[in-house]
Amino acid sequence: MTTTVSTTPYDDQKPGTSGLRKKVRVFQQPHYAENFVQSVFDSIDGKDGATLVIGGDGRFLNREVIQVAIRMAAANGFARVVVGQGGILSTPAASNLIRQRQALGGLVLSASHNPGGPDEDFGIKYNIGNGGPAPEKVTEAIHARTKTIDRYLIVEGDDIDLDTLGEVQVGDLTVEVVDPVTDYAALMETLFDFDAIRGAGLTMAFDAMSAVTGPYATEILENRLGFARGTVRNGTPLPDFGGHHPDPNLVHARELYDHMMGKGAPDFGAASDGDGDRNLIIGRGRFVTPSDSLAMLAANAHLAPGYAGGLKGIARSMPTSAAADRVAEKLGIPAFETPTGWKFFGNLLDAGMATICGEESAGTGSDHVREKDGLWAVLLWLNILAATGKSVDDIARDHWATYGRNYYARHDYEGVESERADALMAELRGKLASLPGTRFGDLTVEAADDFAYTDPTDQSVSRNQGVRILFEGGSRVVFRLSGTGTSGATLRVYLERYSADELDRETPDMLADIITAADDIAGITRHTARTEPDVIT
Ligand code: G6P
Ligand code: ZN
Repeated sequence: MTTTVSTTPYDDQKPGTSGLRKKVRVFQQPHYAENFVQSVFDSIDGKDGATLVIGGDGRFLNREVIQVAIRMAAANGFARVVVGQGGILSTPAASNLIRQRQALGGLVLSASHNPGGPDEDFGIKYNIGNGGPAPEKVTEAIHARTKTIDRYLIVEGDDIDLDTLGEVQVGDLTVEVVDPVTDYAALMETLFDFDAIRGAGLTMAFDAMSAVTGPYATEILENRLGFARGTVRNGTPLPDFGGHHPDPNLVHARELYDHMMGKGAPDFGAASDGDGDRNLIIGRGRFVTPSDSLAMLAANAHLAPGYAGGLKGIARSMPTSAAADRVAEKLGIPAFETPTGWKFFGNLLDAGMATICGEESAGTGSDHVREKDGLWAVLLWLNILAATGKSVDDIARDHWATYGRNYYARHDYEGVESERADALMAELRGKLASLPGTRFGDLTVEAADDFAYTDPTDQSVSRNQGVRILFEGGSRVVFRLSGTGTSGATLRVYLERYSADELDRETPDMLADIITAADDIAGITRHTARTEPDVIT
């Protein structure tokens, strides 16, 4: 029986870079999750008789919100919900299911790489029928609805059994509990040469960070590709990720890094984040930055069966290094520069304008789904290693010898008071026009702007996407505030320097003068009272 429950709006339900992310305690307020889910449902057409995919990364609150969302889907006219067993679906697997089942969309419950647990983060993201994150016009409509919502619809009833495969009825709604891995693993088998990888005799270590990729990696890497048992570390998804921060970077995946740099390291090391869309790639003795990984994967993708026909184009987010652009140029295909956020790639992929996309924030993916895909990147790397017989280090060195090297780092200042961070950005924006021609040490500013993007498929314009300071000679620094945090502000400073011939230098040395210039230009220490970044990736 459908009940209409009266509610009042919350004023903080604006979706960020990747859906609505808040502390668990915020989501636990009365009607908080219900308000947001109903605002999603009220903002989309075509629910009657439609299919909705629901799943999450297994973090604290995942099951509870799934049960509510299922009963609300029933009350809002959906005919079928496809949900991962145990409430589990990695973000790329959810994207795939939405596409396979021709669903109207999906609810992806995750706060990605943010920690989980009763005092940590939760999130709800709506993905549209192409399998990708809702574009801004949809998230804006959802946000507008959250401000006026006065009721939500829900079917009364008991929780369903999320752990047993098969179908159950909730009112007129059919709920289908599916194995979260099966369809995704089948898709991967169509893209990559599993026989070649199996036969290459490679060794590897994969850190699932006690997050959602555990079951996927165990099935694909150990069961299907024959890597030794124990290749997958931290392979059981835990509601609090074992108390760790499931972000595959050099700080939070330090153990893997040390293992890969140490004696007896395997050929290949990788990790993925909370919801399985990010990746960290480390060869024996060689860390590959996400920006370089995008470029190297694009340059070698034709070695995998799924991309043997070549690429249509390469897209990267603006703060991502320009390494991929050089590959596009050599291949004679277009390169696109979009704002931060995977949602901006969706239209390019749908229009067949780009095949491979990537971001400095450890995301890489292709037109096989409409999300970035951590295990996909791992498998493409493995396919390339198997096809060439080269090591990761060889691939990297050969790449730089061909294209030159984009030295790159990101400095994050976390938990900065929002007013201070806003003041820094405002001051920076205010002086953009005066910067060109100014010298900072040996660097001269060539151009400075606030990045704006016009989507080539629908001409929609997104402004204020990050301040770019471009120096003569191709170096640059970019300033942006994170759109994924849940408390205070995080200032991200992206540093890049291109060299055609100095290919084997240390990144901090190569970036030292840009780091100094960045502080001079933006007054980072003056505004934030910080002298060092919290995280360097
Ligand atoms: C999420 C999105 C990515 C984006 C990243 C940036 O992971 O899915 O597409 O690059 O957030 O987050 P930020 O914190 O820099 O806004
Ligand atoms: Zn993620």
